[in-house]
Amino acid sequence: MRLLSGASDECEPEWCDSEDPLFILYTSGSTGKPKGVLHTVSGYMLYVATTFKLVFDYQPDDVYWCTADIGWITGHSYITYGPLANGATSVLFEGLPTYPDVSRMWEIVDKYQVTKFYTAPTAIRLLMKYGSEPVQKYNRESLKVLGTVGEPINPEAWQWYYSVVGEKRCPVVDTFWQTETGGHVVTLILSIVPAILNESGEELEGPCEGYLVFKQPWPGVMRTVYGNHQRFETTYFKKFPGYYVSGDGCRRDKDGYYWITGRMDDMLNVSGHLLSTAEVESALGEHAAVAEAAVVSRLHPVKGESLYCFVTLTDGVGFNRTLEAELKKQVREKIGAIATPDFIQNAPSLPKTRSGKIMRRVLRKIARNEQDLGDLSTLADSSVIEQLFLNRCCGAV
Ligand code: PRX
Repeated sequence: MRLLSGASDECEPEWCDSEDPLFILYTSGSTGKPKGVLHTVSGYMLYVATTFKLVFDYQPDDVYWCTADIGWITGHSYITYGPLANGATSVLFEGLPTYPDVSRMWEIVDKYQVTKFYTAPTAIRLLMKYGSEPVQKYNRESLKVLGTVGEPINPEAWQWYYSVVGEKRCPVVDTFWQTETGGHVVTLILSIVPAILNESGEELEGPCEGYLVFKQPWPGVMRTVYGNHQRFETTYFKKFPGYYVSGDGCRRDKDGYYWITGRMDDMLNVSGHLLSTAEVESALGEHAAVAEAAVVSRLHPVKGESLYCFVTLTDGVGFNRTLEAELKKQVREKIGAIATPDFIQNAPSLPKTRSGKIMRRVLRKIARNEQDLGDLSTLADSSVIEQLFLNRCCGAV
């Protein structure tokens, strides 16, 4: 109170140039070193404000709730800037969807009469495991639109979200976008002129599968990789000149719908968070016991994908539970809790090509226990494979 009485009611805004930097958010890069994605004042804010309004059909009497972490791009664009620029009434939530119990989300929806709800497939899959009873305990009649973001939503999760949460009344709006795009770029309502290209950069027509690119610029696209403009140009504009390259694969069906199939590079998506295998490998490699590490993804029923790490230990070091726990901790501390590996496998040798490149494709199959390894003619030493299958980490997570 004492402080308030002396404070002015007015706060002069800080005038900025439209192209002044607004914020830098770091995101994983396929080479391992995170990229500082730089967004600017006007284009970004205009874009998130508009997409928020149109994609969620925001109306002044809405109560909007996005469950994302505010430090992540979804929290920046669709908790902070987009809703605030529209003067929207929002629920801000810091906590877990399962604490104190698995009805938490629906209790909040009921309590605040939430109309527009935005979450990630990983949260839906997590809650789905507990069935419909915890959802049905609360009234969800206020809900009008259900949004999803961060990773491909599998049909079971979509059905559950649509039927159980939304009682088949609410449209499910899947929103595809990236830290780099600032806001939504493919949704059912609006899209930034997408195209699908083949490996030679030719645009494909009709039903097809290939690289997802965008043909036109939009106000919210990142302006540079902080401190490395060259990397910005190389990563997004070099492979297919004239297009923005998303790095994701995509299928178009006969009805013209786009289905995102996932990353085309060495990236993986754990609970809607993008991680690069290289980043995790280098965190493991910093441990004195590790000579070499190779990381691949393994499908996970809740997280979408999880980390499966193969480690070759330095001579004389034995593999045991203590080391395994230490390595997990190492990755967790270097990158974050989301990157904690689910599996660490001792790999006395890794499958490599004659030129010494690790064959991740083969490792991915071993992690998933798929015996059909495809063409192994470039493999330098095939005895490695049998050993790796024998040492596989089993067990469900
Ligand atoms: O692979 C795509 C996936 O998440 C990546 C972007 O991750 P990030 O920059 O962390 O931003 C996440 C929040 C926007 C994309 O390259 N992705 C994001 N949304 C979807 C998706 N994959 C499928 N469907 C989505 N709706």
